Amino acid sequence: LCSLNTDDSLAGQNVAISAGGTHEAIDPVRFIGNNSSGRFGVALAREAQRRGATVTLVAANVDTNVLKEARGVAVKPVVSARDLQGQMQQAALSADIVIMASAVADFRPASESSHKQKKDGTEKRTLELVENPDILAGLAHDRSGKNQVVIGFAAETGDESGSVLEYGRAKAARKGADLMVINEVGVTRGFGNVDTAITIIDRAGNIHGNGQGTKAEMAGVLFDTILQWQESK
Ligand code: CTP
Ligand code: CA
Repeated sequence: LCSLNTDDSLAGQNVAISAGGTHEAIDPVRFIGNNSSGRFGVALAREAQRRGATVTLVAANVDTNVLKEARGVAVKPVVSARDLQGQMQQAALSADIVIMASAVADFRPASESSHKQKKDGTEKRTLELVENPDILAGLAHDRSGKNQVVIGFAAETGDESGSVLEYGRAKAARKGADLMVINEVGVTRGFGNVDTAITIIDRAGNIHGNGQGTKAEMAGVLFDTILQWQESK
């Protein structure tokens, strides 16, 4: 009845999106995690679906109330970085657009204890960590020859030795993704249900889009930028 809410700008395209934050198990009841809500990734899934795409959302520990926003999207729930890598590799096989909007733990415990760890009277304890695979870099590398756009995210705060954009440029170059979404995080924006400021750059650091607003609006800005990118190829 009402078609105002939809368009077909992504009709015929498969979009694979990861959202949320990974949990790396220490023992059966404990993990190393992060405070990514998954809201941006879910907003992206919803926007891609609204534009007519076939969407796979690989959701790392995303709250069911947040996931509800992406009703109708094929959701692959995952817990750890290695789970997420497996599902994204699978989804990427048939994807035209691959977006890593998840917060992947850089390290995981070297071993997972099969039983709950107990206190043992010592005041200090060391947890050995090993590096997780760089999923985005792997996806960007593995698509060789395929006409696929790969997009990464970088949440940066900036500090005394570099601005948000400088850090983002370096990251874009390192990852080999086509586009990086630089997401400025701080006290008042970025995490949680608040407005977001993004800048979208390519590997050379050229700016292809930017905006500030709700996550839904920024999802629109990103897909507009991706469509322009595809047209320019
Ligand atoms: N990413 C990934 N695999 C990892 C770490 C990050 O695929 N093991 C992806 C994220 O999903 C994001 C992008 O890489 O799309 C940038 O993540 P970020 O944490 O900002 O970059 P890192 O390379 O981990 O650098 P650092 O945390 O040291 O800033
Ligand atoms: Ca990281």
